[in-house]
Amino acid sequence: MIGRTNGRPISITGLGCHVPERVVTNDELAKYVDTNDEWIVERTGIRERRIAAESEALTDVCLPAARRALEMAGADPGSIDLLIVATVTPDMAFPSSSALMADALGMPDAAAYDLSAGCTGFVYAVVQAHAMLAAGLAKRALVVGGDVLSSILDWTDRSTVVLFGDGAGAVVMEPVEQGGFVGFELGADGGGGSNLWLPGSGSRKFEDTDKYVKMNGREVFKFATRVMVSSAEAILGECGKAVDDVDVYVPHQANVRIIDHAAKKLGIPQEKIVVNVHKYGNTSSGSIPLALADGADDGRLEPGKLVLLTGMGAGLTWGSALIEWTHETTGAAA
Ligand code: ACO
Repeated sequence: MIGRTNGRPISITGLGCHVPERVVTNDELAKYVDTNDEWIVERTGIRERRIAAESEALTDVCLPAARRALEMAGADPGSIDLLIVATVTPDMAFPSSSALMADALGMPDAAAYDLSAGCTGFVYAVVQAHAMLAAGLAKRALVVGGDVLSSILDWTDRSTVVLFGDGAGAVVMEPVEQGGFVGFELGADGGGGSNLWLPGSGSRKFEDTDKYVKMNGREVFKFATRVMVSSAEAILGECGKAVDDVDVYVPHQANVRIIDHAAKKLGIPQEKIVVNVHKYGNTSSGSIPLALADGADDGRLEPGKLVLLTGMGAGLTWGSALIEWTHETTGAAA
């Protein structure tokens, strides 16, 4: 799916993030699996990640992010009529984490549902919220992206455990006077789905599944480097923009090598790229909003800037959004 927005301008008016308190360094991971700081930093750029406590579930991590986004937007929770939570690690299959959050936040008029699109979930959810706001079906939306990936990792598998972390981000979206979202591109390829999957987590029966994430790292790497470039090029072309028009590039934070590869191919200079994978690892659906918040806090995400978001992940899925930033959003970082 690809398209340029038309009709009423819609933007992000509030942004908030949250990560669990516990910091797990590469050296600490080396106590659980046969790995070391040097290997992890060289192959991924990751130095540490946040890991939820035993008692913390997805909504515990998402709620503080949501509250911060609402506060920044000056939005009464009761005014939210759409809440979408992008995640692959909901508190449970049902009730949805979004329904639980709508209740906890006080949103009696909100349609609320979870959305599963792997690490691209946040971009997918933003597109859905945009469509409902643009159609006039919703007036003010809260979009949350978050995961507690640590809950589905095999802590004896060094090929996955070093890559991921827990965290969440949230945005308030609503109609604005001008600026805001310019266009979107989304895609999916279930044919490559088994390169990053959680067999046994649904109704399909598998023999001997342990219900932990399984990944073919090399295949995912190849896929990622391809779609991070093709999706960005597609959305820029659709919206009549050149790479040089992009002021801030906010890629999914999976691996610094994937980010560097995409930026080099696209021709985006380092100073325009937001990178925070070194301190959070890959937080899946939380990755892009966490990076947006860091971009805002380091002064790059100012009103008027053209911002390119590109994600990719399990599904396999990918997606890009182009937005002319409209609101001051400093103070959102976790
Ligand atoms: N520590 C030390 N050594 C390790 C580790 C580790 N944690 N993991 C693997 N190795 C070893 C391997 O066993 C292998 O050893 P060998 O040569 O003796 O067989 C060697 O390191 C090289 O392994 P490769 O898998 O070839 O390493 P590669 O350079 O491909 O890097 C990595 C692996 C980092 C996983 C890379 O493939 C990658 O980043 N892939 C993309 C993963 C990703 O981003 N996934 C998330 C997608 S988003 C989402 O939806 C969640």
